[in-house]
Amino acid sequence: EKDIENKLPLKGKKILITAGPTYEAIDPVRFIGNHSTGKMGFDIALAAANLGAEVILVSGPTHLQIKHSLINLIRVNSADEMYDACHQYFDHVDVAIAAAAVADYKPKNVASQKIKKTEATFTIELEKNKDILLSLGQIKKQQFLIGFALETENEIENAKYKIEKKNLDLIVLNSLNDKGAGFGHPTNKVTFIDKDFNIFENPLKSKELVAVDIVNLIVKKYAN
Ligand code: CTP
Ligand code: CA
Repeated sequence: EKDIENKLPLKGKKILITAGPTYEAIDPVRFIGNHSTGKMGFDIALAAANLGAEVILVSGPTHLQIKHSLINLIRVNSADEMYDACHQYFDHVDVAIAAAAVADYKPKNVASQKIKKTEATFTIELEKNKDILLSLGQIKKQQFLIGFALETENEIENAKYKIEKKNLDLIVLNSLNDKGAGFGHPTNKVTFIDKDFNIFENPLKSKELVAVDIVNLIVKKYAN
């Protein structure tokens, strides 16, 4: 029995994970989105569930599938829907990980009918989406809160700023400036920065292995 416990070090822990892009409607047939595949969040969900964690995976549109008795997959479309789903579960979780590539802006007005190509130029006014991770950081109690950061310049400095602004315990900094890292690639070059600004650099790794690293940090936190 002790053996099984040791193999399932996250048994009894609840983890909320966001994944994928969000789609922000322009009209009934069009949206603003991004190239996120959802793979990073899905890999973390699987790694955590395989260690016994109960996972709530809130994902934007993706072709990925996942089937595990410990994973509850909630599919959403927009940032507003992702925000609502996260707030529905956040109070009851031990850990929350924001791996989604949430659209920063959404169309201010959504046309109720398909927009016709009558104008020579066409402007869509955008307004800021709610920041899901920021809002979770503002209400967090026991939760260990992990964010991601995608930066192309002043990476460490910008990531540290996000830790403070969003009240995070850990940030996973994603570098896009190495070949073979980021969106649509199976590998990521990530740097972990904790809330005391300790920095842990990693070599280029598969997203599966990055997921295992993140989950192992959670295991370490709860090990006694
Ligand atoms: N995030 C979120 N809700 C948003 C925007 C971002 O939950 N509306 C989360 C992401 O899932 C990620 C973290 O915030 O974990 C940082 O996202 P990132 O795009 O790097 O930073 P932003 O805060 O959006 O700032 P900017 O894009 O201007 O760098
Ligand atoms: Ca952003």
